[in-house]
Amino acid sequence: MSSAGTRVAVVTGSNKGIGYAAVMELCAKFDGTVYLTSRDEGRGRKAMEELEKLGLHPAYHQLDIDDESSVLKLRDFLVDTHGGLDVLVNNAAIIFPMMTPREEFVESIRKTIDTNFYHTMRACKILFPILRPHARVVHLTSDDGHLLKISGREPEAAALRQRFCAPDLTEPELCQLMEEFIEAAKNGDYYERGWPDSVKEREDTWPNEGYIVSKVGISALTRTHQRQFDQDPREDLTVNCVHPGYVVTDATYQKGEKTIQEGAEAACWLAMQPPSSSANNVPKGAYVWHDKQLVDWVNGPLPSIY
Ligand SMILES: NC(=O)c1ccc[n+]([C@@H]2O[C@H](COP(=O)([O-])OP(=O)(O)OC[C@H]3O[C@@H](n4cnc5c(N)ncnc54)[C@H](OP(=O)(O)O)[C@@H]3O)[C@@H](O)[C@H]2O)c1
Repeated sequence: MSSAGTRVAVVTGSNKGIGYAAVMELCAKFDGTVYLTSRDEGRGRKAMEELEKLGLHPAYHQLDIDDESSVLKLRDFLVDTHGGLDVLVNNAAIIFPMMTPREEFVESIRKTIDTNFYHTMRACKILFPILRPHARVVHLTSDDGHLLKISGREPEAAALRQRFCAPDLTEPELCQLMEEFIEAAKNGDYYERGWPDSVKEREDTWPNEGYIVSKVGISALTRTHQRQFDQDPREDLTVNCVHPGYVVTDATYQKGEKTIQEGAEAACWLAMQPPSSSANNVPKGAYVWHDKQLVDWVNGPLPSIY
């Protein structure tokens, strides 16, 4: 069955947490079909049932961003069924606690960078070609994804920050930075090389350094992606990254200051930006705070602690 012409939104990792709330908000306000996706079909179907009870009717598709074939299947399905994609919210991510046992530390960093950075980037590579003109892409980053979180020993940290915010940073150069961090984590000298060290900087128990670097990577990727969009023949493609706030979810061990609905608000606001025109100021390639402020990603300051 083809329903080409209907606008289509996809939220990754939306069986729970902020992604689930983003589906709720989009179901209520987006003019088109909204896909709830989950890596585990059972968890996804259960979330669908909950939303049906609330009178919301998203569509469903399985999506595990760690599995390339799963992303390819979603792409082919979207092309066959709808002819393209209009909104992509890259929400799926994992987090390991800071106090991850030493023997699991490097492995936890590798896994975090893989899912949160590499596999999000791969999903974009696969799905970006089917974006339609005026498509809106949103990457979930974090307060930990601000450039100033690259805060290891100086002047090494400053040199890393300089590379992350280079105005012509390419995807291979960004991947090279991720690999240098993983190598330094293996060697145990990551702080001396300028990378963050949670134990030195924080008193609470999460997240670990892998999460911070993965999210700085996503924020940097947003700028690189927008530059690609600016050269794209399709009209008015935008991508922004958003810090949702400190939100009560499983990722925060049910701690936080905001409900999942509040956490999804700024992401959905970005996802539903109108077509750009001389009469409006649609954000492009920006680092956006949960109160919808556009924050200077290079120099800061951050508007609040979380
Ligand atoms: N909560 C906060 O305070 C906070 C703060 C800053 C940034 N964020 C960011 O906001 C986003 C959502 O966080 P959250 O707090 O809602 O987290 P969450 O409750 O842990 O939900 C994460 C979602 O991502 C899914 N997921 C994980 N790996 C996946 C994969 N390989 N493929 C597809 N889906 C996958 C999970 O599926 P399963 O159920 O199968 O595990 C789950 O649906 C993340 O990007 C996070 O980094 C959150």
